[in-house]
Amino acid sequence: MKKKVYIAGCGGMLGEAFYHQFGADYELACSDIDVNESWLTYLDFRDLDAYRADVERFNPDYLFHLGAYTDLEYCETHADDTYITNTLAVENAVNIANSLEIPLLYISTAGIFDGKKDAYDDWDQPSPLGHYARSKYAGELFVKDYARRHLICRAGWMMGAGPKKDKKFIQKIMKQLKDGKRELYIVNDKEGTPTYTHDFAKNVKLLLEKEYWGLYNMVCGGVTSRLEVATELVDILGLSGETKIIPVSSDHFRHEYFAERPPCERLINKKLDLRNLNIMRDWQTALREYLEAYYRNYL
Ligand SMILES: NC(=O)c1ccc[n+]([C@@H]2O[C@H](COP(=O)([O-])OP(=O)(O)OC[C@H]3O[C@@H](n4cnc5c(N)ncnc54)[C@H](OP(=O)(O)O)[C@@H]3O)[C@@H](O)[C@H]2O)c1
Repeated sequence: MKKKVYIAGCGGMLGEAFYHQFGADYELACSDIDVNESWLTYLDFRDLDAYRADVERFNPDYLFHLGAYTDLEYCETHADDTYITNTLAVENAVNIANSLEIPLLYISTAGIFDGKKDAYDDWDQPSPLGHYARSKYAGELFVKDYARRHLICRAGWMMGAGPKKDKKFIQKIMKQLKDGKRELYIVNDKEGTPTYTHDFAKNVKLLLEKEYWGLYNMVCGGVTSRLEVATELVDILGLSGETKIIPVSSDHFRHEYFAERPPCERLINKKLDLRNLNIMRDWQTALREYLEAYYRNYL
């Protein structure tokens, strides 16, 4: 018999990959506040009673708490709503998982570091800069301290799910290219690590099946920057000749992206490496596959 997974907040970029990567081998119940797929049901996970009732009805073997507010500017201007959604709802998940005696998966972020170092391994001390990062780190701490069996997996710059759901950097660049822009202003002072949602879901699956509970950095291989990712993307699309990339400092976008971001959020998958369980591919390979799979006829 297939094991059962309840996935809360499954309607976004990462949820799309989890639905596909786990769907063949597990029986899934997927919910979100935004019911944007036929396989989703409605749940606002801030409501503990509703969350508990929904999970108990399904009686899963695992609880995955995926969803969060991921718009840093929204979080910066709606702090209370952010802590209710990104932190207290995670406490709800911990309480439910503990009472059902099942393991909990929580997704954290590379954005919890202050960016003073060149790269961060799993044991570096987080020092979050804004409300989004602080709310996510507070969730991480609660899971670590109170969830009896848990996985905390930290993602970097997420890429996945294509034009319909990708709210982040790749889609923002693709949209500009689709709109005919051939001059792209890209920040030259932000370093990080892209994370392809499908690779991430596969690596979570591996940890889960081996029952290696704990905290893991989980990003694609390689060290890079926003500027390098944009340059590679344009190159993969064969548009280098006709596209001018204009490097600018983050100050250029200070009105649009006013939430503070660390200059460096590069993660190293040290624990995955040491356990010989790192199946995250390098970011260029993953980016190429992402574009081929989701943006074939987009431009
Ligand atoms: N995106 C990144 O670059 C990134 C990087 C590192 C870590 N992460 C983490 O990865 C996880 C998945 O993020 P993602 O990239 O898939 O983001 P996403 O595309 O925004 O998906 C998150 C989903 O959660 C939903 N949600 C928000 N509040 C909810 C609530 N109260 N009840 C139920 N569902 C709710 C969202 O609905 P609405 O769209 O209606 O809000 C959305 O469908 C998050 O925990 C995030 O913090 C993301």
